[in-house]
Amino acid sequence: MSMHDDILKVLLTQEELREKVKELGRQITQDYQGKNLMIVTVLKGAVVFLADLMREIDVPAEIDFMVVSSYGAGTKSSGVVKIVKDLDVPLKDKDLLIVEDILDSGMTLSYLKELLEGREPRSIRIATLLDKPARRKVDLKADYIGYSVPDEFVVGYGLDYDEKYRNLPYIGILKPEVYSV
Ligand code: IMP
Ligand code: MG
Repeated sequence: MSMHDDILKVLLTQEELREKVKELGRQITQDYQGKNLMIVTVLKGAVVFLADLMREIDVPAEIDFMVVSSYGAGTKSSGVVKIVKDLDVPLKDKDLLIVEDILDSGMTLSYLKELLEGREPRSIRIATLLDKPARRKVDLKADYIGYSVPDEFVVGYGLDYDEKYRNLPYIGILKPEVYSV
């Protein structure tokens, strides 16, 4: 019994992810020369991407984490989030890079970006590994995008289904029967 048996199709292989993360790291390294980079990651989905990406960024950078939870019941993101764990330091003079796993409706991130903008960092940008533009509900674009993906539910490389499959080393689509049990 292996978790790989639950995967219908591999969308992005480990090699593809590694290459893309390297490319994003190179680009971010160029763009943040002489800046005061602070990477902000929202737990938990983006931690795998973050762990790989930060080691491809060759400028001194701070890292901090936020934990947020959506208000209200249901699986659809309402966009209004409660801060469960906030950042530890003020953002004045920092060049903020928000690292996300996937940009879906964009509701959570647009709320968060506005909140952080209010703290007057020097600049604020978004890096997302995956983008699902078809699902966007707000006018929000990422500055760095790994891959655009079709409107299908994906797991692995940090992304979960019911909190599981985050440890899958590639990104894939689950077999339908996994959802129905
Ligand atoms: P939204 O952009 O506010 O709708 O929420 C984005 C969040 O929804 C991501 O950070 C993921 O936690 C989750 N999410 C959206 N699409 C997927 C998917 O295909 N697989 C796993 N999680 C997803
Ligand atoms: Mg999730």
